[in-house]
Amino acid sequence: MFVSRRGILLSCLVALVCYSCNTDPVNPARSRTSFNAGWKFSKGEFHDASAPDFDDSAWRDLDLPHDWAIEGPFTTEVGYKGGYLPYPGVGWYRKSFTAPPGTGNLQVEFDGIMRNSSVWLNGEYIGGWPYGYTSFVLDVTDKIIREGENLIAVRVENQDSSSRWYPGSGIYRNVWLTSTESVRVAHWGTFISTPVITAEAATVELSTLIENTNSSGASIVVTTSIVNQEGAVLNSHTQQDIRIEANRDLEIIQQLEIEKPELWDIDSPSIYTAITSVTQDGKIVDTYETPFGIRYFHFDADKGFFLNGRHVKLNGVNLHHDLGPLGAAVYKRATERQLEIMKEMGVNAIRCAHNPPSPEQLDLCDRMGILVINETFDEWSEQKWGVPNSYNIWFNEWAEKDTRALIKRDRNHPSIIMWSIGNEIPDLDTETGKKHARMLSDICRELDPTRPVNAGVHLTTEFDSELEKCFDVFGMNYWQDRYNSMHAKFPNLPLLSTETSATLSTRGEYHFPVEEIYRGYIHETKQITSYDLVNTGFGALPDVEFELQEAPWLAGQFVWSGFDYHGEPDPYEEGYFPAHSSYFGIVDMCGLKKDRFYLYQSQWTDEPMIHLLPHWNWEGREGEITPVYVYSNCPEVELVVNGETMGRKQKQQGIYRFKWEEIEYHPGSIRAVGYDGDGNILCEKEISTAGPASRIELVADRSTISADGEDLSFVTVKIIDKEGNICPEAGNMVHFAIEGTATLACVGNGDPTCIESYQKPQRSAFHGLCLLVVKSSNNAGVIKVTAQSEGLEDAVIELSTESI
Ligand code: GAL
Repeated sequence: MFVSRRGILLSCLVALVCYSCNTDPVNPARSRTSFNAGWKFSKGEFHDASAPDFDDSAWRDLDLPHDWAIEGPFTTEVGYKGGYLPYPGVGWYRKSFTAPPGTGNLQVEFDGIMRNSSVWLNGEYIGGWPYGYTSFVLDVTDKIIREGENLIAVRVENQDSSSRWYPGSGIYRNVWLTSTESVRVAHWGTFISTPVITAEAATVELSTLIENTNSSGASIVVTTSIVNQEGAVLNSHTQQDIRIEANRDLEIIQQLEIEKPELWDIDSPSIYTAITSVTQDGKIVDTYETPFGIRYFHFDADKGFFLNGRHVKLNGVNLHHDLGPLGAAVYKRATERQLEIMKEMGVNAIRCAHNPPSPEQLDLCDRMGILVINETFDEWSEQKWGVPNSYNIWFNEWAEKDTRALIKRDRNHPSIIMWSIGNEIPDLDTETGKKHARMLSDICRELDPTRPVNAGVHLTTEFDSELEKCFDVFGMNYWQDRYNSMHAKFPNLPLLSTETSATLSTRGEYHFPVEEIYRGYIHETKQITSYDLVNTGFGALPDVEFELQEAPWLAGQFVWSGFDYHGEPDPYEEGYFPAHSSYFGIVDMCGLKKDRFYLYQSQWTDEPMIHLLPHWNWEGREGEITPVYVYSNCPEVELVVNGETMGRKQKQQGIYRFKWEEIEYHPGSIRAVGYDGDGNILCEKEISTAGPASRIELVADRSTISADGEDLSFVTVKIIDKEGNICPEAGNMVHFAIEGTATLACVGNGDPTCIESYQKPQRSAFHGLCLLVVKSSNNAGVIKVTAQSEGLEDAVIELSTESI
């Protein structure tokens, strides 16, 4: 197992251990509250905006998280890599606030600012962070005004050509204000490992860094209790008589046994919480909670990946941090929805391409049982592919700090199975690259000896035994032609496909004749046919990869990509405006499924499913060849066209789609039926030729949401005919009105060429569908959404917000 069996440092402490089960988890001393509300914002440079008396009355009021670039408008002044959205430039945020009561130590925690942030408190510069994906904390204890108003000002500068994909801009992740006593658990101060796990018991080892920021020493007692998901205290460990000198920190190691541990697994993601309390002079001065999981795993060079002793093929996807029409601003519910959709497809792992994810994404993966490759960088010191202002400008000074911050923040998440120190680093195989690879992997192993080190390696890299030493698991991006030779050459190195496929398609789009094209597909519509046979050339069709992944020594694959994202509109890059977002996604930017979703689902899930394509509205193509493909996990499939059977096809080894290539189009219907091996029907699906668009249908993913000011309801808007069939070519403009306890969060339609605003209450449908997202207010009540479109019957849906 990839669990370090660290020497037990505790023997000398055992005498001090006492067990109790009555620790009070309520924290009298530490508070961590959202610092998101009530900011002022303006784009542009202001030379004196850090000064408390600067007049910001003309600035916009907003609550964080905020991404200014998604507000648009799309512009050719920004290149296709950034999705033509105005992310470059300077923006300022200011917030006036009073200190929380008491004399506590205060810290402002930024989960991420995109990018190059500088922060002032009451006119004094207090710090900042260049890399937009790193979380950081600023201590403001000595600078805060305890009685009266404080002013925090944040300058953000995102340079042009700073990213190969859309990065977003601004304070796009959450901000927190944390108050503690002066003796406390340090920020990200715990590290939990589980060096011994058997069915009977697990040993939980907890390292806690305690800080004393006082000018006098302190005697403290540290108690850690382990609590299960139901809140029951399972075990406690107290360490008495700890002396911590003035202005020092001290690492405490504690070990606790958990009997009959419930293992964290993809189907049963059991979470425990370690609650550490620090007592000084009989008073609890801090309580710090660390959620964690008990699980073990390893990669085997011959047999692949094992979780809790069980073989698991990694069926993964790459995800950028982009939340489609919401932009880069973090919304927990939007992230959760992305992960739910991926899980429904059979995904059990994600790779955070190519940067530290939001803390919310990792919490969700812990809770939902999704494995994670947590990645640091897309480049090191050598500049990569046309983005001169990307991470290379900071690497030498910041790479170590960014890597340490990531690992310290994230190493207690049970979902994380690997650290990736980079993606497709162009100079990886040079002397400098190898030096950097050693430096970064050493940091990972120092801070976390329990997880393997990995990278997504470009297919042109000369991989040799020196590089082999840097990695515990070798991540291959599009090495499909060399899987076998790599395994033969490095038989002891576990192999994983960190990027695969890179197949391209647009939801609902079909072009004839059906062609299988590697590289060079260009169509006048700037769209890509959804017969799922168009590929970039460096990748391979999903089918090719499915077959290759049969090799037991391949630990699994991470498809490029789970969702479409802004930027990288390959193959419609330079000169193809308004094509602004990717075609790689298995699901479009709104979370609406493309056909490919079902191709993966047919391989990665067991619950009987069936899907067929294309749609059946081909006016003007009557009598012409219109191939029908069926994706299903059933052993046998039948196609019925206009009531007439086209015969049944059986599943065959190495064939992943059921294809009927010679079907003539005549309006009516196509129906696919899935059978078990004995001829019993397991599932079926029918698509009928739709009549003229008649009305709108609204379908919400959740009709009751939390009245917390940040929850979302995703409402799919369907243009349908009289019978309820989706009109697959409908592009009607739909206007929305929202009344009650919610506001508009965004609209979208998944069309990679549509440059309508994401923030106006209207959207054209794309292939019969679009999306409206509403955001709750802080009040409980009723939300009424009305959708109107010229010539169509209106639709109304009632939703509600509920206090939590
Ligand atoms: C890879 C790269 C990804 C993405 C993908 C599709 O080479 O790592 O970030 O660019 O290609 O083009």
